Amino acid sequence: MRKIYIFDTTLRDGEQSPGVNLNTREKLEIAYQLEKLGVDRIEAGFPAASPGDLAAVNAVARAVKKSTVIGLSRSRTQDIDAVREALQGAEDPCIHLFLATSPIHRKYKLKMDKDQVLETAQAALRYASKYFSKIEFSCEDAGRTELDFLCEMTAMAIREGASVVNIPDTVGYLYPEEYGNIFRTLKEKVPGIEKIQLSAHCHDDLGLATANSLAAILGGADQIEGTINGIGERAGNTALEEVALALETRFDFFGAKTSLELTEIARTSRLVSRLTGMVVPGNKAIVGANAFAHESGIHQDGMLKEKTTYEIMSPETIGLKESKLVLGKHSGRHAFREKLVDMGYSLDDERLNEAFAKFKALADKKKEVTDEDLLAIVELKLIDTPEEFRLETIFVSYGNEATPAAKVRLVTLAGDIIEKEAEGNGSVDAIYNAIDLASGEEVKLADYSIKSVSHGKDAQGEVHVVLTQNGASVQGRGVSTDILEASARAYVDALNRLIEKRKSNSAIRA
Ligand code: KIV
Ligand code: ZN
Repeated sequence: MRKIYIFDTTLRDGEQSPGVNLNTREKLEIAYQLEKLGVDRIEAGFPAASPGDLAAVNAVARAVKKSTVIGLSRSRTQDIDAVREALQGAEDPCIHLFLATSPIHRKYKLKMDKDQVLETAQAALRYASKYFSKIEFSCEDAGRTELDFLCEMTAMAIREGASVVNIPDTVGYLYPEEYGNIFRTLKEKVPGIEKIQLSAHCHDDLGLATANSLAAILGGADQIEGTINGIGERAGNTALEEVALALETRFDFFGAKTSLELTEIARTSRLVSRLTGMVVPGNKAIVGANAFAHESGIHQDGMLKEKTTYEIMSPETIGLKESKLVLGKHSGRHAFREKLVDMGYSLDDERLNEAFAKFKALADKKKEVTDEDLLAIVELKLIDTPEEFRLETIFVSYGNEATPAAKVRLVTLAGDIIEKEAEGNGSVDAIYNAIDLASGEEVKLADYSIKSVSHGKDAQGEVHVVLTQNGASVQGRGVSTDILEASARAYVDALNRLIEKRKSNSAIRA
């Protein structure tokens, strides 16, 4: 059976989404889950971007055993050396070299003619092949590159030892038929093409990324690159879950499959959404909250008579299942552990104890603790950001005819207690002003969003903030049954990440 390889770039192209900034522990958590999902290749980052990015790629390289770990590199020796360093300890390392090939990029960005582009890429491939047995080469903006030049570049990359040649539609410009034809032409015209894999990498600027990726498969592509939930630069990348389910559901048409463990899709999607702070729209294909919901009476009637009237795939396929165990304040540790196992989490004793204590505290405030509540507890607990500041107490005074005021108490890493009071134009503003005074950090709140973790008046609120300081941006999350407390926790979480990030500031993006 024809296998389509899956190259996941959630940690690289996905992390280039505006406002997204994952730290090393978060990248590791996502990488472990991607491995569980069964992706063949994980692009862990761009090591030359900063020492922090290099360290994160190295952490992923050392942790992941089953998937190939890839580091991105421009076609220059310093970048290649950074990937060499970053992939030390990897079970199956691969370097991903790229150089732009389109006339627009050659003229305005690179200021190179075709020969210079060919020579630069060739030199990079020669240098990289001294150290790597697996090399992917990408012709950036291939979608707008002359087809004969693309053939020439591909032939050269094959001669110089590339094992995968990637044909990115970098700006999401092409129509499926055009994109598929590029693959057909390369397969037909390039000598030695049977020795390598051809890869498709699409962006969603015109909403065509999935359609284009599937057209590439029909044209002969062996590998699809994309991200979970389709996050990425601008309108994002191909959503891998969409490609995987299209191949699964329409096997009759495509005759090809991925080796993804499809039941891990829902969990992976949720984790990526939670850690990146990028909310999945309700109507998003496959992983949106409404993807399997049937609202109209006619549809519901059809579903009751025969599911396949309106359901082309089942929610169970992606790992969504009705939970039988409901937890409340009388549930014990054993039931709690069983429930987590049922949801796919096996925590060590220390983490289980901490999560159980949080669950008990929550169960005191809420009658019924839902699956979503548990996920919020468990998935927050998977990440331990060093706490330069810990929020100990918060007091807010508000009345619609008075100026809102807040008093916060933070505890530093050294154990010092700092208490500050401030006013603001709203309760959250007052809290944030008080935290600013206590932490001494000068930051700008670039984004603030709040959503309900589950349903009902007693639902927990999850707040997501993005803070910026001197051009660096970080995100933070906080969950509580009280939205003011959740707001304060998210802000303090972001401050802790900011301080951590200062030590390894990211500079460049591919
Ligand atoms: O979109 C693109 O061209 C890229 C390359 C670096 C492969 O992300
Ligand atoms: Zn891209």
